Amino acid sequence: MNTQLITKLPTILDPTKMPQHVAAIMDGNGRWAKQQGLPRIAGHQQGANTVKSLLRCCKDWGIANFTVYAFSTENWGRPAVEVDFLMRLFEGLLDSELDQMHAEGVRIRFLGDRSQVPLGLQRMMDKSIDKTQYNQAVTFNIAINYGSRKEILQACKSIAELVKAGELDVNLLDESMFDRYLDTHELPDPDLLIRTSGEQRLSNFLLWQLAYTEIYITKTHWPDFSNDEFTLAIADFQQRNRRFGKV
Ligand code: IPE
Ligand code: IPE
Ligand code: MG
Repeated sequence: MNTQLITKLPTILDPTKMPQHVAAIMDGNGRWAKQQGLPRIAGHQQGANTVKSLLRCCKDWGIANFTVYAFSTENWGRPAVEVDFLMRLFEGLLDSELDQMHAEGVRIRFLGDRSQVPLGLQRMMDKSIDKTQYNQAVTFNIAINYGSRKEILQACKSIAELVKAGELDVNLLDESMFDRYLDTHELPDPDLLIRTSGEQRLSNFLLWQLAYTEIYITKTHWPDFSNDEFTLAIADFQQRNRRFGKV
């Protein structure tokens, strides 16, 4: 990484120890809205502003990959009006923000099974991927209809098909080859996972990829998670002693 290129880095952060991949479980939109006396959907709307400002921080601070959990495979179990609102919100945001993100060099990717999301959103997802595919400032991964167990199972099925067809010797299968069948292929594993709103669980997010990720949990609800708190989370990460099982 060329640290000369990093602009506006908060002075408490060490430019030589920046995470290369930050992932976020954006939780607490509903609780935030309740606190304000607003409907849950207002929390989702407000949460989008946090995403925009953190994405810009990643770009400005030299964090190459930013991944957000926007909708889980379990979130279909929510009331239909909320699910509907979220799908429209994702589509609308991609539509309204695409030109600006493209101008800023954001490369957009998606994790999750898109076949079950509304067609209009699928089209917007394809358009975003196509338009931004050569951008290099920051890769922005959005997990929509994503579930880690589903992802791992799908990888196993694809590999089993290859073995059955005699195209792969099962003895040659190793972790790096397995990685290539996950939605995150080509992405480094997250260095830092942030979960807002205090829950201490992974909720089916990146179970394979988070094996050695540092975890930062804050009680702050996602719509209130500011650039300053993002700075604190990274400062905390920079103090960690990552041993990877060694001494
Ligand atoms: C996270 O906020 C957004 C999504 C899961 C889509 P929540 O909607 O889960 O907010 P809480 O947890 O109910 O407060
Ligand atoms: C996790 O949040 C999923 C997303 C942020 C998209 P949830 O609110 O769905 O998680 P649980 O239900 O508290 O585990
Ligand atoms: Mg929640």
